[in-house]
Amino acid sequence: MKKKKKKIIVTCAFPYSNGSIHIGHLLEHIQADIWVRYNRLIGKKVYFICSDDNHGTAIMLKSKEKKKKPENIIFKIYKEHILDFKKFNIIYDKYFFTHNKENRLLLNIIFDRLKHNGYIIKKKCSQLYDKKAKIFLSDRFIKGSCPKCYSKNQYGDNCEICGAFYKSIELIKPKSIITNFKPIIKKTNHFFLKLSLFKKKIKKWIISGIVNKQILNKLLEWFKNGIKSWNISRNKPYFGFKIKNKKNKFFYVWFDALIGYISTLKKLCNYNKIKNFDKFWYKKSKIKLYHFIGKDIIYFHSLFWSSILEGSKLRKPTKLFIHGYITINNNKMSKSRKTYIKAKSYFIKYNTDFLRYYYANKLSNSINDINFNINDFLKKINNDIINKLANLISRNSFFINNYFHNKLSKLFRNSKIFKIFIQESKKISKFYLNLQFNYVTNLIMKLIDLANFYINIRKPWYLLKKKKYNNLNKICSIGINLFKILITYLKPILPNFILKNEFFLNIKLTWLGIKKPLLGHKIKKFNKLFKHI
Ligand code: MSP
Ligand code: ZN
Repeated sequence: MKKKKKKIIVTCAFPYSNGSIHIGHLLEHIQADIWVRYNRLIGKKVYFICSDDNHGTAIMLKSKEKKKKPENIIFKIYKEHILDFKKFNIIYDKYFFTHNKENRLLLNIIFDRLKHNGYIIKKKCSQLYDKKAKIFLSDRFIKGSCPKCYSKNQYGDNCEICGAFYKSIELIKPKSIITNFKPIIKKTNHFFLKLSLFKKKIKKWIISGIVNKQILNKLLEWFKNGIKSWNISRNKPYFGFKIKNKKNKFFYVWFDALIGYISTLKKLCNYNKIKNFDKFWYKKSKIKLYHFIGKDIIYFHSLFWSSILEGSKLRKPTKLFIHGYITINNNKMSKSRKTYIKAKSYFIKYNTDFLRYYYANKLSNSINDINFNINDFLKKINNDIINKLANLISRNSFFINNYFHNKLSKLFRNSKIFKIFIQESKKISKFYLNLQFNYVTNLIMKLIDLANFYINIRKPWYLLKKKKYNNLNKICSIGINLFKILITYLKPILPNFILKNEFFLNIKLTWLGIKKPLLGHKIKKFNKLFKHI
């Protein structure tokens, strides 16, 4: 009987609709895509989903400024985002958006459940109000000095310098970003999710190993400082979902975005006629759920999201995979400082596999930032991909193509080096699963050096000169077989490159196929794969 495939759901954080995909976003999507491809390669059934995050103040203001409906803006961006991801071979089973009826419906069901279970409270609170723009200011639209460390130019929710969390009304000398005016304090009612009621359960869940140690300590610190209720509503004007029977209230963008994880999967199930959608979300669901997120949104996932799920009696995530930030020449990405690279500016110039490789080479399972430096990038690609990897195949195929009618030798079963290469698959697997892609690429580069060295000392040119054809065929066939193993290991990272090579080697590369050498096998004529960049 065929073994049933293990099922897993994998998500990336939903990019906002108010801008283009940049190479910072791409770090996350490439990391997740590599992991997904690896899991598929070893036979798991993966549901890989993401969406655009449509709502919020930023998009509302943009629509005002451009005098266009927000719906039109988000649709245009949506098409752009989809194309960007496709260019990098980041292939979602479903890439959706949050401003849709499935999400609205689920949001309302979950809100009603939470209310019914006594987890929602209504509270009067003081907020900053911009009299000129006639708008309550959300945290990202206020700047001022941090109440804890007095650093200037901090947003209304937390300080980027000392990391403190506070309420926007605590900011010193607040200023509205929209009008530059000093906002006033105004009272208004809001809905809150009472997070303190979930404290025990969420803490237990967090300790059970959903994040790595580095982050665990940070989370526990948050717990120690006490957990406040979470405001999940916003006042008009706002672009979002209206709260039923409330005149001026909308759901806060983060509330419906998180629920978007459920509705996107629902959409996928509808499209692909997958039955029993509920089985993904039962409290005791056996299907694993993994979220890839950046370090800036840990709080939203570890506390808010898990509380929403806990409170509505649904399953919680299996793991949060958290990455650091991409910096450019050691600077934060910023449009004004010109340290900002859009996905499109990259792909019109370079092969997208190269960025995938570069990131893989820098990604470990820590939350340290990763620096993008163009010289370092060019050097890395020229050295690893062109000089080493492409060289290994071009020199060996040259002889096979020109002297052996494209046919590999039948005779190298006991090659020692072949066995060494196969044995490394255990380590590679472990590194992939643990998100230590830097170890994957480093180990592969070591193996490539070894393969090139193996060929060098056997001097194929010399063998040709001396007409030792059998030996030459054997050596080059081993070279090609070693290459085949290596690119199977690299398959999750380099989709463009692999596709060309599967054609050239005349074979589909599979994990199970690693152990099987190509004997007496016919390959195709080799075409130069990449030029130096
Ligand atoms: N819309 C929210 C997520 C909602 S999830 C239900 C959001 N959007 S975002 O566009 O600001 O960020 C999306 C993801 O990209 C986040 O995980 C964020 O950490 C990541 N990154 C944004 N800029 C980044 C870098 N410069 N470097 C690495 N990741 C970056 O947050
Ligand atoms: Zn501070």
